[in-house]
Amino acid sequence: MSAKYQISFAKAARAEDGLAILLKLSGDQPPAGAAEVDPAGVLVKAANVAEFTGKSMSVLDIVAPHGSSFDRIAVIGLGKPAALVSHDWLRVGGVAAGAVRTASEVAIHVDAPGIVMDGEKAANVALGMLLRAYSFDNYKTKKKDDDDKTVKTVNVTIVTADPAAAKAAFVAAQAVADGVNLARELVNLPPNVLGPVEFADKAKELTKLGVEVEILTEKDMKKLGMGALLGVAQGSVKPPRIAVMHWKGGKSKEQPVAFVGKGVTFDTGGISIKPGASMEDMKGDMGGAAAVTGLMYTLAARKAKVNAIGIIGLVENMPDGNAQRPGDIVTSMSGQTIEIINTDAEGRLVLCDALWYTKETYKPRFMINLATLTGAILVALGNLHAGLFSNNDELAGQLLAAGEESQEKLWRMPLSKDYDKIIDSRFADMKNSGGRHAGSITAAQFLARFVGDTPWAHLDIAGTAMGSPSSEINQSWGSGYGVRLLDQLVRDNFEA
Ligand code: BES
Ligand code: MN
Ligand code: ZN
Repeated sequence: MSAKYQISFAKAARAEDGLAILLKLSGDQPPAGAAEVDPAGVLVKAANVAEFTGKSMSVLDIVAPHGSSFDRIAVIGLGKPAALVSHDWLRVGGVAAGAVRTASEVAIHVDAPGIVMDGEKAANVALGMLLRAYSFDNYKTKKKDDDDKTVKTVNVTIVTADPAAAKAAFVAAQAVADGVNLARELVNLPPNVLGPVEFADKAKELTKLGVEVEILTEKDMKKLGMGALLGVAQGSVKPPRIAVMHWKGGKSKEQPVAFVGKGVTFDTGGISIKPGASMEDMKGDMGGAAAVTGLMYTLAARKAKVNAIGIIGLVENMPDGNAQRPGDIVTSMSGQTIEIINTDAEGRLVLCDALWYTKETYKPRFMINLATLTGAILVALGNLHAGLFSNNDELAGQLLAAGEESQEKLWRMPLSKDYDKIIDSRFADMKNSGGRHAGSITAAQFLARFVGDTPWAHLDIAGTAMGSPSSEINQSWGSGYGVRLLDQLVRDNFEA
């Protein structure tokens, strides 16, 4: 059974609420909120019997005692109060959503000493619930015995000191949840269903929110001279697209910020074909484009006071009679020529034209690109940090701070002239692969050749966009990584 949460905020729970979720600090006895929910004081006994200490995100789930207006009580541990940061409230929401199960009425109380459940915390709990609730089961047609496919509405009341502030903060929280869940959905969709054209159609749907969307076709790209992107696309029967999403929430004269995404809807490797094992994961090679689309959704839905451009390069990388070969030399929109060494290093070829186009057309304040660019970033950082490469320390610092706050973490990697030299080519201006060593860095150096003086950051999200371990707030293969990170970045630094 999957749930759709109908969330409201109030100073007290209604009497008919079926599941009470209480939050408890470690060391605080008895579990907070006990008086209202558990007049007979059974919780204390239950907590002792279960040796429940309130360890962070642990759950004590019991049948409510006779005389309580609730059926069930779940107590969620908060750990030590001094250690609580804003992201923990999302995790609490996620754990709460996990505890709901069959309940259709839920009340969440925080009544822990020293903690004021203000509007922001309450909205973060709600956001955590909405993120946890996402699951991708569109293609599961058979109902398993233990897996009821019905979606039922669960009424959730979050008890807060300031319902009005919570309601206001929840508008943005809902926008974030919908943006993240959109990104997840795009990553999860199979590559026969979501090709470049279909992805562009999804981007187009953002017009409903007031985003101006322009789609560039193959013909437009030919005219612009995007030989690098087109070289990747030519092996597929699915034509490429670029979608430009423009959100104008700032002052009309204000230069936009720009987000650029790699959108390879399937990456076979092309003629340098990948081995079969796990190739199906390459449906997620559009995770950068998905994050950019999700982010643009969020910015528009919460009416962010910023001018923002989202540009996604959409192609499929396939081997066929017309596919590009190792040894081919292509001319990018910038005029720089590229010798193709490995047709599987295709992401940088898509991005170099998208970045150049973005810089030339919009003269943005900065460009941040997101890409599932290299397997090497998984070797370096696993799936717990994305790689951050930047030509600008201020932007890098702002991104690292947003990563800490959102817990969508980044780790900065080096760029230098010496790494840059590795991609010089014997036959053209550069080659598209510098070999195995420092593979993530040489990929970033390649992109750096297309950004000029524009402050720029490249996020290699090959490890974080998909297949990361599930968490309190994510159970989906496609994680939606990047949406919360960049929404945080915009909020903290770029809104009027
Ligand atoms: N899409 C892949 C990178 C990737 C690998 C993403 C694993 C997610 C999980 C990218 O296009 C690629 O194939 N990169 C090559 C580059 C190499 C040929 C220089 C790689 O990482 O092996
Ligand atoms: Mn590839
Ligand atoms: Zn790829």
